[in-house]
Amino acid sequence: MSSNYTFSMIKPNATAKNITGKVNAYFEAAGFKIVAQRRVRLTLAQAQKFYEVHKERSFYGELCEFLASGPVVAQVLKGPNAVLKAREIMGDTNPEKAAEGTIRRDLGDSIGENTIHGSDSDENAANEIAFFFNQLDICE
Ligand code: CMP
Repeated sequence: MSSNYTFSMIKPNATAKNITGKVNAYFEAAGFKIVAQRRVRLTLAQAQKFYEVHKERSFYGELCEFLASGPVVAQVLKGPNAVLKAREIMGDTNPEKAAEGTIRRDLGDSIGENTIHGSDSDENAANEIAFFFNQLDICE
């Protein structure tokens, strides 16, 4: 059975534009509850650790530098079938390919600066939640 929890993170291009509320309105309108949230600026080393699964990719360097370039909003979302549902709401990684009405289509700037990160599996969600939060931070 899939988990009711996923991790998402609003990226520095969106915190710079002061649209974190606008982004989260998409999740809340779809029935998600934000059960933990933290605004934080990662160091480059922390960003590299967070995106370690992508370390062999050609864009890893720029991806990590971008993530560390400004504040992010890390959060835990709760709702049925959370990983898949949140990915649907976010849309394709590339805003140009994302469906109308998705976060990345409406509010993403480019494939790198695509406004929102979301976990791609229950296992990665658990790891990414643990990267930013402990059990006491999650309040339902
Ligand atoms: P995210 O869901 O945060 O997971 C990894 C990120 O890598 C992804 O969103 C994109 O922002 C980024 N990414 C994927 N492909 C590319 C690419 N070709 N060039 C730059 N960044 C990319």
